[in-house]
Amino acid sequence: QAGWPGLIAAYADRVPVPDGARVITLLEGGTPLVPAPELSRRTGADVYLKVEGANPTGSFKDRGMTVAVTHALASGVQAVICASTGNTSASAAAYAARAGLTSAVLVPQGKIAAGKLAQAVAYGARILQVQGNFDDCLELARKTAAAQEDVIALVNSVNPVRIEGQKTAAFEICDVLGRAPDVHCLPVGNAGNITAYWKGYREYAADGVIETTPRMFGFQAAGAAPLVLGHPVSAPETIATAIRIGAPASWNGATGARDESGGLIDAVTDEQILAAARLLATTEGVFVEPASAASVAGLLVTAADGRLTGGPGGDRPLVVCTVTGNGLKDPDTAMGWMTPPTVVPVAAEAVAEALELR
Ligand code: F0G
Repeated sequence: QAGWPGLIAAYADRVPVPDGARVITLLEGGTPLVPAPELSRRTGADVYLKVEGANPTGSFKDRGMTVAVTHALASGVQAVICASTGNTSASAAAYAARAGLTSAVLVPQGKIAAGKLAQAVAYGARILQVQGNFDDCLELARKTAAAQEDVIALVNSVNPVRIEGQKTAAFEICDVLGRAPDVHCLPVGNAGNITAYWKGYREYAADGVIETTPRMFGFQAAGAAPLVLGHPVSAPETIATAIRIGAPASWNGATGARDESGGLIDAVTDEQILAAARLLATTEGVFVEPASAASVAGLLVTAADGRLTGGPGGDRPLVVCTVTGNGLKDPDTAMGWMTPPTVVPVAAEAVAEALELR
C-alpha cells in the first residue's frame, strides 16, 4: 500500500461497512499528532495536538462522513441530509459529491463561518439557511429524513455509523504514542465526538491494545454549555459558532464519557477561546478555528487550577488536545486580530525601517 489508505481501510476490522459496498473515501484520517512545546511548558504536562484540520475538508467530520456516506450509498438512497453549524455540511457535501449523491444541508442563517459556507457551495450542496439555530436545524433534518427514509439518509452523528468513523482518532493516537494519554481534552457541541473518542478508547482497552484509558475533559463555550448547566439552553450564543448548540443530541454519550472516565465537562469563555486560538497560532504554528481552541482553553484553565493531575505515579501527565477544525474555515475571526496594515513604498530601506529588526 502506497501511503495512508483512508480510515475504513486502515481500521477495516473495527469500522464495519456493508459487504460489497463501494467505499467513499478522500483518504481522511491519519492526521498529525503534533507535540506542543509551548503548551507543555505552560502546563507542566506533555501536550500533543491531534490536528484534525488536516483532514480533506478541514475538520474531523470527514472521519464520520466516509462511513456514513458509504452506508448511505450502499442502502440505495438518492440523497443525504444534515443539520450543521458548518463543518458537517462541508464534509457531507464533499463525500456526497464523490458518491454521486445529492446533499441537502440545513444551517442556521447567518451563523456559519464563511469558509464553511464556501465549501458547501463549492461541493454543490443544496443549502437551506434556516431561520433558527442548530437545534432547530437538527429537528428539521430528522423529520425530513424520517418522512422519506428510502430516498434520503440522515448523516448527523445521531446516525451511529458516524461515531464508528470518528472513534478512529482515538485509535490513531494510541497507535502513535504506544499507549493512551492520561487526559484527553476536546471541544463539545452536539457531543458526538467525545462519545466517539470514548468508544474508541474503550474498544482498544477491551482488546488489550492499551492498558489504561484517559480521563475525558470536554469543554463547551460558556454561552452554550447545556452539559455544564445540566439542562438545555434555548438561545445558545458564542463566537465559536461550530459549538453554538443548546441541546446536544449525544447528551448521554457525553456524560457517560465524563463519568466513566473520571473526567469533567466544563465551560470556557469566548475570551479564553480566542486567547487560546491566538496562542496556538502564534506559538505552536497551528491555526485552528475558534471552537477547536476550546480544548486548549480548557487545558490551560484546568492546569492553572490544579485539576490537570498526572498519571497513577503522579508524574507529568500525557495530554492530547483535539483541535477539530482548520483556522481557514473562519477567516473573519483571524482578520479581527489584524493591526492596521503597514504600507511601504517599493524601497528596501523602507521595509527595513518598518520592520525594526535590529
Ligand atoms: N469543533 C468543531 C470545529 C466542530 O465543527 C464541532 C461540531 C465540534 C467541535 C463539536 O463536536 O458536535 O461532536 O461535540 N460541529 C457540528 C457541525 C455540530 O455541524 O459541523 P461535537
